[in-house]
Amino acid sequence: MESVKTLARLSKYLRRHKRALAIGACCIVLVNILGLSIPWLTKLAVDKIEAGTQPRVLLFYASLIVAASALQGIFRFSMRKLMIGASRKMEYELRNDLFDHLLTLSPSYFNRTRTGDIMAKATNDISAVREFLGPGIMYSINTVVVLAAATSLMLYIDPLLTAFALLPVPALAVIVNRFGRLVKERFDKVQQQFSKLNARVHENLSGIRVVRAYGIEESEKRQFSELNEDYVSKNMRLVQIWGTFHPLIALVGGIGAVIVLWLGGRQVVRGEISLGDFVAFSGYLMMLTWPAIAVGWVVNLVQRGAASMNRIARIMDEQPEIVDIDPLPLVKMKGEIEFKDVSFSYREELPPALENVSFRLPQGRKLAIVGKTGSGKSTLINLIPRLFQPASGKILIDGLEIERIPLRTLRCRIGYVPQESFLFSDSIKENIAYGLASARDEEVAEVAVISKISEEVEEFVEKFETLVGERGIALSGGQKQRTAISRAIIISPAILLLDDPFSSVDVATEREILRGLLRKVGDKTWIIVSHRLSSIREADEIIVLEGGRIAERGTHEELLKTGKLYRELHRRLLIAEELETA
Ligand SMILES: Nc1ncnc2c1ncn2[C@@H]1O[C@H](COP(=O)(O)OP(=O)(O)OP(=O)(O)O)[C@@H](O)[C@H]1O
Ligand SMILES: [Mg+2]
Repeated sequence: MESVKTLARLSKYLRRHKRALAIGACCIVLVNILGLSIPWLTKLAVDKIEAGTQPRVLLFYASLIVAASALQGIFRFSMRKLMIGASRKMEYELRNDLFDHLLTLSPSYFNRTRTGDIMAKATNDISAVREFLGPGIMYSINTVVVLAAATSLMLYIDPLLTAFALLPVPALAVIVNRFGRLVKERFDKVQQQFSKLNARVHENLSGIRVVRAYGIEESEKRQFSELNEDYVSKNMRLVQIWGTFHPLIALVGGIGAVIVLWLGGRQVVRGEISLGDFVAFSGYLMMLTWPAIAVGWVVNLVQRGAASMNRIARIMDEQPEIVDIDPLPLVKMKGEIEFKDVSFSYREELPPALENVSFRLPQGRKLAIVGKTGSGKSTLINLIPRLFQPASGKILIDGLEIERIPLRTLRCRIGYVPQESFLFSDSIKENIAYGLASARDEEVAEVAVISKISEEVEEFVEKFETLVGERGIALSGGQKQRTAISRAIIISPAILLLDDPFSSVDVATEREILRGLLRKVGDKTWIIVSHRLSSIREADEIIVLEGGRIAERGTHEELLKTGKLYRELHRRLLIAEELETA
C-alpha cells in the first residue's frame, strides 16, 4: 500500500506525541463505554417499569444516565483536546521542518520550482495532513471501538435479531465505497481548481503594475471570473455528492430500524425478549449509524492525507546540492581568493556560463570584472558564497577549498550586494541589520551614511523604522540598492562582492559612496562588477569576461594599451559618463 508507506513518514511526529495520543485513545474508549452504558441503563429502567417499581428507583437510573452523560462530556472534551491538540502540534513541527528544509535547498531548486507550487504545499497539503493526524486518527479509533462494542452488546442481547438488523450493512458498504471514491475525485478537482485560482491571484497581484500599465484589467477580470465560476461549480458537484450521501445512509439506517421494530417488537409481544432489551437494542443500532458514515469520511481523510504527505515528501526528499563536506574550523578568514580552472553551467544541456576561469586575488586587493551582458560576471560572483557549485575546477579562500569552509562561516564573512537588491517587508533598519543578530542604532546609522542613504531616510517620517513594503516596493531602485550596500558592510566582511552595486545611482553619488567604502572597508578584498569607470579604476586588477572566458586581464593602464575589448568598452563608458555629467 502506497499510502501506508507515505504515512509511515509521519511516525517520527506521532512518536513525539505518543503520550497525548495514548491518553486520548483511552478517553475515546471511556467515552464509548459511557455512551454504551446509557442504552443499558435505559434497559434496566424499562425492565424495572415492567416489573412495576417505585418512582424513586427510576429517579436513581435517571441520575445515573445524567452522570454518565456528564462524564462522557468530560472525556469527550479531553479526547478532543489531547488528540486535536497533538495534531496541531505535529502540524506545527511539520511546517517548521518543511520551511527549514526549503531554506537549505540550493538556488537551482528554486530555478526549477514555482513559488506558487511551494506555497500551495505549505498551506493546503499541510492542513490535509493535519486533518489526517487529528480527526482522521481520532475517528478511526472511535469507529472501530463503537462498531465492535455496539455489535457485541447487540449479539449478547439477541444474536438472531442482530443478524437481521445488520442485513442492510452490505448495502451500506457499497454506498460508502462508491461515494468515497466520488468524493475523493471531486474533492481533488476542487483542490486543483483552487490552486489555479490562487496562482492567478498571486501572479496578478505581484504583477499589478504591469497589469495596470498595459490596461489589461478587463481581460484579467474576465479570466478570473471564469476560473472562479469553475471553482464554484466544482464545489457544487462535491456538495451534491455529500447531499445525497447523508440521506442515503439515513435511509439504510432506517431500514435496519424497521426490521428491528418489526421482528424485535414481535419477540417482545411473544415474551421472547424483555421490553428493556428491545429498547437497548434499538439504542445500539442507532449508535451504529454515525460510525457507518464516519468510515467513509475517515477513509477519505486518510486518502487525502496520504496524497498530501506524498507531495510534501517530494520536497523533503529534495537534497540540498550544496552542503558542508568534512568542514575545517577556519579560525579567521583573511580574504585571499583563488579560482583554479573553474567551469560552470546552469544546466547540463546549456553551454557553460563560465569556462576555465583562473585568477588569484591576494588579501586586501580589488578586482573589477567587466564584460558584455550575459558574459558570466554575476555567475562568477555567485560561485564564491557557494550559491552554485562549479562543474569543475577549484575555488580557494586563504588557500582552502571553499567546500571545506563551513557554509555559515563562509557566508557570514562575505558582504554580498547582489545585482538585484532584495529587501524584506520590514523596516529599513531591520533590512540593513539583516546579517547581524543584533545591531546598535549607531552601527546602522554609520553604514547608512557611508552608502549615502542616510539623508533620504532622515527625511522619512519614521526614519529608520520606515517599512519598505513587500520586496522593498516603497523604496526607489537606488534606495534599495544603497540599503543593500549598507547591509553588506554592516557585517564587517572579509570579502566584499559587489555585483553592479551602483547601477541605479548617479555618477556623483557613486563616487561619494566609493570614497566612504574605501574608508570603511578599503583594506578588504573586493570583487566588483561594474559598468562605471570610477569603480573600475579603483581596482588593482581588471578582468574582461567574454562568453564565460577571461578574454583580457591587467591593470587599467595596461589594458588601455593592450586590451582591444577593454579599450572599446572604456571608450563607450567614457562617452556615457560624459553625457550623464554634462
Ligand atoms: N539561473 C539561470 N539559469 C540558466 N541560465 C542562466 C541563469 N542565470 C544566468 N544564466 C545564463 O548564464 C549566462 C551568464 O549570466 P550572468 O548573469 O552571469 O551574466 P552577467 O555577465 O552577469 O550579465 P549582466 O551584465 O546582464 O548582469 C547568460 O547566458 C545567462 O543567460
Ligand atoms: Mg549580472
